[in-house]
Amino acid sequence: MKTCIVTGASRGIGRAISVALSQQEDIQNFIILARTEEGLVETKGLMAAGKNIEHYHIDLTNYEEVQTLVQAIGQKYGTIDLLINVAGYADPKSLLETTIENWETTYRINVHSIFNITKEVVKFMKRTGGKILNVASTSGITPRPGWLAYASSKAAIISMSQTLSEELSDYGILVYCISPGRCATELRKILAPDEDPTTIMQPEEVGDVVRHLLSDSGVCLDGQNIIVRKQVKKQTASVKVEVAPAGVVK
Ligand SMILES: NC(=O)c1ccc[n+]([C@@H]2O[C@H](COP(=O)([O-])OP(=O)(O)OC[C@H]3O[C@@H](n4cnc5c(N)ncnc54)[C@H](OP(=O)(O)O)[C@@H]3O)[C@@H](O)[C@H]2O)c1
Repeated sequence: MKTCIVTGASRGIGRAISVALSQQEDIQNFIILARTEEGLVETKGLMAAGKNIEHYHIDLTNYEEVQTLVQAIGQKYGTIDLLINVAGYADPKSLLETTIENWETTYRINVHSIFNITKEVVKFMKRTGGKILNVASTSGITPRPGWLAYASSKAAIISMSQTLSEELSDYGILVYCISPGRCATELRKILAPDEDPTTIMQPEEVGDVVRHLLSDSGVCLDGQNIIVRKQVKKQTASVKVEVAPAGVVK
């Protein structure tokens, strides 16, 4: 029976992925992480019954605390089969509005914390093989004026995923990277406050994709940046056609 760690599990996409993966018969042990205990407890309540679910409210940028926790989990369960790096942060600003604090916070949460937890998990995972899935963003592959720190941190995740996919293949570790488009979560509200959340992709839809990717049928999709995006339905505009009277050239 497999053991799975999910970060960013207190709400949004991390919650949806935790719920979706809990439907998988071969995963029995879940360790769900975020800073907000309330949110984690709520997620736990939505996950499939009969699973062993441990939740830890932890700030992923407390690197040493995370290392200690992963070591304890690895020792308790013997290995860690799945690591799902979802936690993320956005405070979108233009270049001249971006402070060094904003830049550093964005990178500490979005990039450094993934490096830190992945390194610690791989110390166990390399013995048995396993799967790692990182959540990047479409903003990491196309320009986003005004989102400099966030978008570039997501590009870093795509690059890290591709490098690790090759580096860790000798251990039987598959590394996946998904880049969601707009998805109705609290983070999206920060990026696009005026958008109607009912018109865009829902977190559960991303959860379903991840469940499929990490199943046996997803074994040929590692090492690539997989875009997960829903086409937004356009309102059919009523088009008024004016026909010029015969003989009149307009
Ligand atoms: N929504 C979108 O449109 C979209 C599009 C592309 C990519 N993404 C990516 O998807 C991922 C999930 O985002 P979301 O949209 O689901 O946003 P969200 O609802 O705001 O969730 C963010 C999650 O990250 C956790 N988190 C943030 N900072 C943390 C820290 N220092 N330590 C531990 N946990 C931390 C939050 O938990 P706590 O606050 O409880 O710690 C929360 O569980 C992010 O990486 C985001 O960049 C989102």
